[in-house]
Amino acid sequence: MKLFTSVVLFGAAVVALVSAAAAGTEGEISFEYHRYEELRKALVSVWLQCPTITRIYTIGESFEGRELLVLEMSDNPGTHEPGEPEFKYIGNMHGNEAVGRELIIYLAEYLCNQYQQGNETIIDLIHNTRIHLMPSMNPDGFEKAASQPGEIKDWFVGRSNAQGVDLNRNFPDLDRIIYINEKEGGANNHLLQNMKKAVDENTKLAPETKAVIHWIMDIPFVLSANLHGGDVVANYPYDETRTGSTHEYSSSPDDVVFKSLAKSYSMYNPVMSNPNRPPCRKNDDDSSFKDGITNGGAWYSVPGGMQDFNYLSSNCFEITLELSCDKFPSEDNLKTYWEQNRNSLVNYIEQVHRGVKGFVRDLQGSPIFNASISVEGIDHDITTAKDGDYWRLLAPGNYKVAATAPGYLTVIKKVAVAFSPATRVDFELESLMERKEEEREELMDWWKMMSETLNF
Ligand SMILES: *[C@@H]1O[C@H](CO)[C@@H](O)[C@H](O)[C@H]1NC(C)=O
Ligand SMILES: *[C@@H]1O[C@H](CO)[C@@H](O)[C@H](O)[C@H]1NC(C)=O
Ligand SMILES: [Zn+2]
Repeated sequence: MKLFTSVVLFGAAVVALVSAAAAGTEGEISFEYHRYEELRKALVSVWLQCPTITRIYTIGESFEGRELLVLEMSDNPGTHEPGEPEFKYIGNMHGNEAVGRELIIYLAEYLCNQYQQGNETIIDLIHNTRIHLMPSMNPDGFEKAASQPGEIKDWFVGRSNAQGVDLNRNFPDLDRIIYINEKEGGANNHLLQNMKKAVDENTKLAPETKAVIHWIMDIPFVLSANLHGGDVVANYPYDETRTGSTHEYSSSPDDVVFKSLAKSYSMYNPVMSNPNRPPCRKNDDDSSFKDGITNGGAWYSVPGGMQDFNYLSSNCFEITLELSCDKFPSEDNLKTYWEQNRNSLVNYIEQVHRGVKGFVRDLQGSPIFNASISVEGIDHDITTAKDGDYWRLLAPGNYKVAATAPGYLTVIKKVAVAFSPATRVDFELESLMERKEEEREELMDWWKMMSETLNF
């Protein structure tokens, strides 16, 4: 009896210690899988814990009617603040790739905990960025994958949505259009402009894809990543090759920026950046991987992917993160994955504050929406959002940046860009109407002067 009591006490003491340590470092994070209902509850708990900096919303429903939930974190949840860049993480678009889904939930909990504990880095990040976190783009697929009995899950079950659609092959294939435009001339950005109706009426698009297309096109996102599993690498555009061959380096006009963004993730992840990491499986071809990053096409061509769609349909730069050799590892490993990825996940969000940013206005100070920001030497323009605000991600260097809008005179500025923070560059554009008016007035003055001098 006596022995029994002391064992119980000893046990209780250990439990107390463990939970104290956990509370000290990781707050409330519990490293387990979240089924659909648990995911909802986890997001609601973050919202209840940090109500002033969070908001939960849904961008639509999956085929089986599950909500595509997003947790937003910002100092003014629910509104776009002029000048503040927007960021998103999307997890689990392949329903059986489960690590990203969990890491996004842990990230939400971590950011909320750190914010409350007064961590200056996190407070600055949340005050200066509007962060959108979507743990699962394919909740139906996840339920299917998670419902399999036993620890070891099939490599494919739950990858697609409930209709059998692979969501990362289901986006409008804008690469085909840009590859033609590169040769023959044509738009170099926003290739789906004025085609929202066609998207809505397209019966080949899954409901999850449609919802995400609207989301991408409605919010002025600047930077994004979508989280996958099955390998360990940060993959950047283009994903689809120019010639249609299976493996071919397929650079976008922003190749330099994308490499730098991908590295900003891989370099903070000790496993991803390890040059001696053996391939996930013996026969895997990782020959295109360097420093934990790869061009998408160089690895293998993906038509209809979400990453290229972001870049070609909006201002948003997206990369694809492969986070684990196992797609659905056992729960015991989740804490390790979090530790490997935590710094990368935070550091990658911070990349949204690089390059050049500012406002485009007219001479009266009114914002000019949909003005183009172009950078000499980079054939991919960015456009201004509703408040005339823009964000142009760039690697360090010297650039010539132009602001153009129909009916206005173009203004070009020379800009030096450091690694970070972004250089502030505002543009004031004179409208051609104003210019004509000025010229008319100048002409009138000249006539007046002439007539006075010559005594007409
Ligand atoms: C604050 O957050 C940053 C970014 O996640 C982290 O590196 C740092 O360790 C945190 N500081 C403290 C005191 O926990
Ligand atoms: C933005 O400008 C482009 C070209 O200048 C135009 O085709 C497009 O309709 C404009 N978009 C909006 C939403 O005004
Ligand atoms: Zn995947």
